[in-house]
Amino acid sequence: MPIFFQHQVNDTTRLGIWKIEETEDFFKSNVPQHRSVTHPHKRLQHLAGRFLLQYLFPAFPYELVQIADTRKPYLPGDEYHFSISHCGDYAAAIVSKDKRVGIDIEIPTEKISKIMYKFLSAHEHELFRLIEPNANRIPFATLLWSAKESIFKWYGNGGVDFRKHIQLRKQNQANETIDCLFANINTELTIHYRQFEHLALAWVVS
Ligand SMILES: CC(C)(COP(=O)(O)OP(=O)(O)OC[C@H]1O[C@@H](n2cnc3c(N)ncnc32)[C@H](O)[C@@H]1OP(=O)(O)O)[C@@H](O)C(=O)NCCC(=O)NCCS
Repeated sequence: MPIFFQHQVNDTTRLGIWKIEETEDFFKSNVPQHRSVTHPHKRLQHLAGRFLLQYLFPAFPYELVQIADTRKPYLPGDEYHFSISHCGDYAAAIVSKDKRVGIDIEIPTEKISKIMYKFLSAHEHELFRLIEPNANRIPFATLLWSAKESIFKWYGNGGVDFRKHIQLRKQNQANETIDCLFANINTELTIHYRQFEHLALAWVVS
């Protein structure tokens, strides 16, 4: 049972990361495929993400899932709020009975240094000391990317300028959180995170 990480966020919200070691047949016999995915590994990721929804909440009604124009999957009536992410051999999901949620996982790679300026403001570069090269720069920049993606997914309506609208304000290392102003709707949000050896995880519940 390759559950890699599991966390009871609060009374009504759970999240999990699955390390994919199964074949497509395993998932297909357990979960429906909600959209057509041509690439076999991407299809496996998609199925593993869906699998986690019922793993976390066994009564999760797969058959009611709809896909919005923004491509966000949702349940009409919001019996559960949920968010899914996948990267490499990992799939992650967060499910809540009563709160909007967003989740993202990312595997740190050098590529992040080429796009950092696109999603982090000059102020954020300075605040998080990303200007000088250091050993933690790639994993930490990846975490900040994941943090912003989790906000994007929590919001779900698109039209987000990562640099302008998602303003990361302060990292609280002791509780593994980052304070953020989501300027699109002028709302303060707390992003929760974990840094694993080769994986960054970020989630938002509000
Ligand atoms: C949609 C998006 C968030 C997906 O992120 P990703 O890292 O490529 O992929 P992930 O595996 O983490 O997430 C994919 C899942 O997100 C969910 N998703 C897709 N669109 C979504 C949306 N608009 N809102 C919320 N969730 C969404 C789906 O569940 C999808 O998986 P599924 O189709 O198998 O169910 C991403 O492609 C995106 O558009 N990000 C914004 C990019 C941007 O604006 N950048 C500007 C700054 S540089």
